[in-house]
Amino acid sequence: MPAEPSTDAARPADAPAPNPARGAGNCASNHARSAAGAIPPEGFGEGRGGGSSFQEMWRELAPIGRDADTHGYRRHAWTPADADCRAWFRAQAESRGLGYEVDRNGNQWAWAGDPEAGDAVVTGSHLDSVPDGGAFDGPLGVVSSFAALDELRRRGAELTRPLAITNFGDEEGARFGLACVGSRLTAGQLTVEAAHRLRDADGVSLPQAMERAGYDPDAIGPDPERLARIGAFVELHVEQGRALDLSGDAVGIASAIWPHGRWRFDFAGEANHAGTTRLVDRRDPMLTYAETVLAARREAELAGAVATFGKISCEPNGVNAIPSMVRGWLDSRAADQSTLDTVVTAIERAARERAERDGVDLSVVRESFTPVVEFEHALRDEIAKILGGGIPVLGTGAGHDAGILSGSIPTAMLFVRNPTGVSHSPAEFAGEDDCVAGVLALADVLEGLACR
Ligand code: GLV
Ligand code: MN
Ligand code: MN
Repeated sequence: MPAEPSTDAARPADAPAPNPARGAGNCASNHARSAAGAIPPEGFGEGRGGGSSFQEMWRELAPIGRDADTHGYRRHAWTPADADCRAWFRAQAESRGLGYEVDRNGNQWAWAGDPEAGDAVVTGSHLDSVPDGGAFDGPLGVVSSFAALDELRRRGAELTRPLAITNFGDEEGARFGLACVGSRLTAGQLTVEAAHRLRDADGVSLPQAMERAGYDPDAIGPDPERLARIGAFVELHVEQGRALDLSGDAVGIASAIWPHGRWRFDFAGEANHAGTTRLVDRRDPMLTYAETVLAARREAELAGAVATFGKISCEPNGVNAIPSMVRGWLDSRAADQSTLDTVVTAIERAARERAERDGVDLSVVRESFTPVVEFEHALRDEIAKILGGGIPVLGTGAGHDAGILSGSIPTAMLFVRNPTGVSHSPAEFAGEDDCVAGVLALADVLEGLACR
């Protein structure tokens, strides 16, 4: 992958050159291109297979968990906003006559066809958000999945394999600190004991939160039988970079996900008076933290990686008190594991050196780690063939449930153009025509994989 690591803009060597013919186009394939032109986005999917239109679904979801001041979404796992999203998913499933179920880990499933038949094709994404997240990260994949099913029904396509739509729980990890909890549990990449230890900022444990939301936390655990019944998982997602905008394509296919992880840095100092404590007498963990943030930026830049302290807590958090404790969470990602190791080791070394000078105690805990994901080539090639030649293939620095599941089943991803590349922000955006192109591309893929 190239040195610019920040987003999906990283184009791996195996990606085809941008196709100039697509410059003004919105669509992934000839089929999608012509269809998108013929179908106005407003009303897309209306009256097809009894489901709501894309627009209707989008409108229904829009107010759920949206903060009135920031206009960002706060759909955190097992909160009332999450419950409302789940109720919406269930209503979509039931309005289409799909078989609805919640698995042992709280992931939702809507089935067309018999789940027990095996070799199912599954699509979907997640409905939870980061703090003040955008409307598209996750929901675009779920809404597009229902709309694609409506489109298949409109086409009169007949399923030859079971087809399911999913909403994986707690993908962002905004509340309990660990991303992709639902898919990790299912894939056996998170132990039940570790899941039970997860706590939110108020000390509420994951089991308590699940129980309060009406789910059985004692049921959680690996679900190999469920995974064994799935032949392919395809997740559609808004792009979180500008590669498609730069190439002039509405839709692309994922090649790989960078290895990434989260580390908690606890800087313990000594609380004291901000007005009377001489500078030389202080043990100020905020100073150590500040130097560590600068080191993270420096080391990431040197290595062509990314490193972010996006979340901190400070105790006692008083304006006239030197803090006793600063906690900072580092998120770091790189194109390969050894670069990531080098960056994180260098950041920790810099933090320890500074901590020594400041009289601060430092502990560093790795809270999560996801190794590099290379999406299965056979499925990727099959999807590329279905969608027609020249579709761009992109790497990404963002984590996804498809990446977690790729260790257990063949998975693939479709990305939909994001003209600004902004994500994890209320400004996240995808144009209406591109959303339609995404739905049609997904419908083409599902038809190619699961229909006669
Ligand atoms: C999920 O969106 C992540 O990459 O953090
Ligand atoms: Mn996200
Ligand atoms: Mn996402």
